[in-house]
Amino acid sequence: MQEQIKNINTLEELQALYTSTFGKNGTMTARLKEMKNLDNDARAALNLENATLRELFKTRQSELEQAVLMAGLQKQKLDVSLNPVPENRGTLHPLTHSLTCISKILESFGYTMYTGPSVEDDWHNFTALNTPDHHPARDMQDTFFLANGNVLRTQTSAIQIRAMETDGVPIKMFGVGCTYRKEWDATHGPMFGQIEGLYIDKNITMSDLIGDIRAFLTRFFELDNIELRIRPSYFPFTDPSIEVDMKWKNDRWLEIMGAGMVHPNVLRNCGIDPDVYQGFAFGFGWDRLAMLKYNLPDLRDLYNNDVRWLKSAGF
Ligand code: PHE
Repeated sequence: MQEQIKNINTLEELQALYTSTFGKNGTMTARLKEMKNLDNDARAALNLENATLRELFKTRQSELEQAVLMAGLQKQKLDVSLNPVPENRGTLHPLTHSLTCISKILESFGYTMYTGPSVEDDWHNFTALNTPDHHPARDMQDTFFLANGNVLRTQTSAIQIRAMETDGVPIKMFGVGCTYRKEWDATHGPMFGQIEGLYIDKNITMSDLIGDIRAFLTRFFELDNIELRIRPSYFPFTDPSIEVDMKWKNDRWLEIMGAGMVHPNVLRNCGIDPDVYQGFAFGFGWDRLAMLKYNLPDLRDLYNNDVRWLKSAGF
């Protein structure tokens, strides 16, 4: 019997043998019932046999249960050599990337971020920026006018007016926001992100402006050496006004931003004395900078929300 128990290989067989031994009609049950007819030695022997067999059943049962468990685990074993199911992870949009990067750089230069409304009144978008009614410069930007005379902000320059009105000078800020113009081609969309820096204090000069632009572009494009070309330009709210080009791959010159020394009329419009304070402003499209940084051919792709494009472009 003892050998038999040890050689059983399934729980079912073990259970069957247990029942035929210790069950109601089991062999051991029957023998135990007859115990009263046995002498002391025989009783002791039977008791010992009974106890030993029960112990053996228990041991074999736990061995077999363990074996079943192990077999189950064996089947579930992880195969780490299998190719993983591709994970559909979200990532930051390239525009978010470039905005974060730009903000970090400007903040490290001491500029503070400001925002403003997308629907602007005439004063903040044009008049205070030295662009009165019927000024020809209003045609430089194809403006979306609203019925009540407000406009969709055409430039984040409006934010600098709001900042100077509320916080006064000295001020070192950058405005961030979407701007709107009636434009539609590979490098212009009707809505684009603009950033505008403003630094007004005593004794601020054009070389401070060019120094900050150079430092900013070097950091943003992660280049050791950038070549800039400063061209005279015209904006009603700066004088002198410049346009900054940067030498790109294949020796092409790319227009990067407009800038200049803030026009005295703009300062006066914000209650600032231009004989005491002066400074500079610069403005650029942060989506255009993203296009250059990430080598994107069409600006409009940035606004299509097409996940396939984002993935194929490596984001
Ligand atoms: N606001 C100008 C534009 O929309 C850019 C600019 C900003 C130019 C600040 C000079 C100074 O093009």
